[in-house]
Amino acid sequence: MVAKILDGKQIAKDYRAGLQEQVETLKSQGYTPKLSVILVGNDGASQSYVNAKKKAAEKIGMISEIVHLDESTSEEEVLNELNRLNEDDSVSGILVQVPLPEQVSEQKVLESINPDKDVDGFHPINIGKLYIDEQTFVPCTPLGIMEILNHADMDIEGKDAVILGRSHIVGQPVSKLLLQKNASVTILHSKTKDMHQHLKNAYIIVSAVGRPGLVTKDDVKEGAVVVDVGNTPDENGKLKGDVEYEDVKEIAGAITPVPGGVGPMTITMVLNNTLIAEKMRRGIK
Ligand code: GUN
Repeated sequence: MVAKILDGKQIAKDYRAGLQEQVETLKSQGYTPKLSVILVGNDGASQSYVNAKKKAAEKIGMISEIVHLDESTSEEEVLNELNRLNEDDSVSGILVQVPLPEQVSEQKVLESINPDKDVDGFHPINIGKLYIDEQTFVPCTPLGIMEILNHADMDIEGKDAVILGRSHIVGQPVSKLLLQKNASVTILHSKTKDMHQHLKNAYIIVSAVGRPGLVTKDDVKEGAVVVDVGNTPDENGKLKGDVEYEDVKEIAGAITPVPGGVGPMTITMVLNNTLIAEKMRRGIK
C-alpha cells in the first residue's frame, strides 16, 4: 500500500481562502480582526514562527503586529505589555510565543491573557473548558491535526489512536479532541514500557516528540494514518519529522510530510481562532 499524502500546505491554502472571505465580510461590517503577538528574546525558531503568523494574517486581510521585547525584559514589563493588549479594543487575539526567558514565568504570563483573546487556547480557563467539552479556544496544532484528519477519508469513531508525547500544547489536547470523536486514545511518553506494541495496534498515530527516526515502518500497521508533528532541524537546517517518512509511506494508509504537513495548519488555526475571537466580541455568529 502506498499512503495518501496529507498535503498540509494545500489543505491550509484552501482553508485560508475560506477565512479570507469571512474576513472580507467582517471588514465590510466595519470590523477588522487583529492578531497581536508578544515575542520575548531572539530565539531564531520563535522569530520565524511569529513572522510566519504575522505574514499569514496580513495575507488574508487581518491586521497583525509583533510586540518584540528584549531577552532581558522583566516579568513585570511583559505583564504590562500583555495588559495593554488585553485592554486595547482594536486587538481581537493575543498570542505570547513560548518559550519565554527564564526570568519570566510562563505560567504567570499565560494565566494573564484575557481568556476571550486567548487564540492559542493556553489559558487555564480555556484548557478547563476543553476538558469538559465546552466550546472554547482550542490549541492550534491539535486543531490543525483534526482538520488534516478530516482529509484522510476515514471514520475516527471506535478507532485506536496512539499519541506520542504528552505536552500541554499538542499531545494532551489532541488526545481530548480525538476522544471527542470517539476514538480510543492511548498517550505514550518517556516512561512507556513497550512503545512498539502500542504503535503496532494503532489505526491513527500522532507523533509529537521532536526525535527524528522515532517511528519506523516496523511500528506501523498496514493502512494506519500517520500524523507527524516533529520538526527538528538537522545539521543543514532542514526540518525532520519524527517519522521515517520514505519507509512508512509504503505501509501507511495516509501520512503527513515534514515540512508541509502539520506546520501550515497550525498557523491556519491561529487565523481561525483570531477570526472567532473577533466575531465573538462583536456578537456575530
Ligand atoms: N511555541 C511553540 N509552539 C507554539 C504555539 O503554538 N504557540 C505559542 N504561543 N508558542 C509556541
